Amino acid sequence: MPLTSVDLTPNIGTEVRADLPTLLDGSIAGEIRALLEKRGVLLFRGHDMTDEQHLRFAETLGTARHEHGTDITMVSSDKTKSPIFAEYTKGTFFFHFDDTYMDYPALASVLRACTVAPEGGQTEFANTYAAYDDLSEEDKRRFSTLEGVHSQETIQRKAFPDPTETQLALWGEGAIPATAHPLVWHHRSGRKSLLVGQTMSRIVGLDKEESDALVERILAHAEQRQYIYSHDWQLGDILIWDNTGTMHRVVPFDLDCGRELQRVKLSGEEPIMAPATEPA
Ligand SMILES: [Fe+2]
Repeated sequence: MPLTSVDLTPNIGTEVRADLPTLLDGSIAGEIRALLEKRGVLLFRGHDMTDEQHLRFAETLGTARHEHGTDITMVSSDKTKSPIFAEYTKGTFFFHFDDTYMDYPALASVLRACTVAPEGGQTEFANTYAAYDDLSEEDKRRFSTLEGVHSQETIQRKAFPDPTETQLALWGEGAIPATAHPLVWHHRSGRKSLLVGQTMSRIVGLDKEESDALVERILAHAEQRQYIYSHDWQLGDILIWDNTGTMHRVVPFDLDCGRELQRVKLSGEEPIMAPATEPA
């Protein structure tokens, strides 16, 4: 068998075992994609890939998104190595989807551990398909017509309650406008997931008190332990998460410890779609 797999928790996360040439030649890419959609997070351990192999493997699964001038990006809290990510690190201590400001959020990210934190720095993932499935029928009905407003400023303010002008110029709503999205993402596969996160400031059309209470209730539901896989990084680990059906966050760590990951983002293949806008 070119591929074997071991589930890491009941609801999310699977370790995939296959040899390096098989991962790189794309022959099991279809199986990996199907498993990713089903399990949210896939771990590949012990391959010690180079940058070039990492990118080649990612490109068997989708289209690498060219951003910040490259296809492979360093995720580091060290400003001299990664000026963009270093500014955002503390905001990523809270659960979120990537790219909620885009029409086509990233399909997935493929991460590789280059230097691990001695303490903390685990990446945690929460399965929003499972969180949706467990809602009451009443909530499913109600949420199907609601929209949440998301912004980078909302999540960054949780880390920086009194932002400087420079920070606001980087991630304030004046720089990255807030966007409204359906609370329920109806995927082309027919499956539904919650589209929530600590980027969400309010629910469209509700008064502030009701909106605040609902945002708090939904997040408390979606961040329950049974939906989460917490990944303790080992050097060389390759991990893929489905950015359309999982939220993620980083467990706080010492920002000066040198933790470094390399990341390839795969371009989104479907827009966020509400049940009401589903094609006939
Ligand atoms: Fe992120």
